Amino acid sequence: MTLDDIETSIRGILEGLAAGLPTLATDIEVQSLVASVTGKKGELTALIRGLKELPPELRPEAGALLNRAKDRVASMAGARLEELRRAAIERSVKEDLVDVTLPGIPANTGKLHPLRSTLDEIVDIFTCFGFDIAEGPEIETDWHNFEALGFPPDHPARQMQATFFIRSEAKLVLRTHTSPVQIRRFLASPPPIKIIAPGVVYRHDDDPSHSPMFMQVEGLLVDDHTTFADLKGTLELFLQEMFGRNVPIRFRPSFFPFTEPSGEVDIACPACGREGRKACPVCHGSGWTEILGCGQVDPVVFQNVGLDPEEVQGYAFGLGIDRIAMFKYGIDSIQHFYRNDPRFISQF
Ligand code: DAH
Repeated sequence: MTLDDIETSIRGILEGLAAGLPTLATDIEVQSLVASVTGKKGELTALIRGLKELPPELRPEAGALLNRAKDRVASMAGARLEELRRAAIERSVKEDLVDVTLPGIPANTGKLHPLRSTLDEIVDIFTCFGFDIAEGPEIETDWHNFEALGFPPDHPARQMQATFFIRSEAKLVLRTHTSPVQIRRFLASPPPIKIIAPGVVYRHDDDPSHSPMFMQVEGLLVDDHTTFADLKGTLELFLQEMFGRNVPIRFRPSFFPFTEPSGEVDIACPACGREGRKACPVCHGSGWTEILGCGQVDPVVFQNVGLDPEEVQGYAFGLGIDRIAMFKYGIDSIQHFYRNDPRFISQF
């Protein structure tokens, strides 16, 4: 067998196909003709098997010829199948077998997860206020997550941050809050700074109001003169945008190692409508529920990032996206957000 013989055989096969295909009227006929060429006992398959009888120096070229022929067979058959498919549609329309006026099958559209739409809303509000978006890693150093924020080793405030530690020399943790993004932003370039930092955080808590993975938005504004009144005004306006103009809000004193003074903001309990029922699972009778933490940036944080607390002032706040979404949509367990159940998501 020579290369010329192979070429002649291929030509014969392809001509046979070119003549045969247009005469075939069904998919099955097309498929059986193709099988007689490239199937197990097909003519082309026999040629491919014969390759090993050829002198080695001819094999690459012969192999390439045969491969090209195989591709050609597939595309000729594909074209004929497509012709048959179109002809069938045309026939059924012509013969009124298809009622083109019937409504189509509705497409299944996706939906935004309620956490995503809540986050989008929060981000929209703060970007309207002129805040930029900042990001940081979910695996953090102990220094960024704790020390630089005023939690020295063994500080009791670390206790509440139910931390997942990563076994390593580098003292790494899964970040327990988005506050370390403050530190990363400080180190990136000097104030003025006006950012929010949305993201996922981790703590080893797991019950209807706690999930080991949840979402926060951090806020940080630093300039040469920034007061608690600026903070209060910004947060009040944010909460009104989020929950409506008339939502009752109160500020309470609190403690965070990285703010001084620190506060927490409560909104009227969305579950019992501020009635403060004893059995209310959200407010347990107080009529209020916590929505965020905030405060003026502690001078120790400025010092830790090399800024002079006499020259800059700022405020920070942190809010839980899951909690806000739960209140907004009346969801009773944070765990619904992470169960990936389409029956839950499709309700929003
Ligand atoms: N990082 C705090 C937490 O997760 C929340 C927080 C409180 C953030 C006060 C702040 C703040 O920026 O000023 O518990």
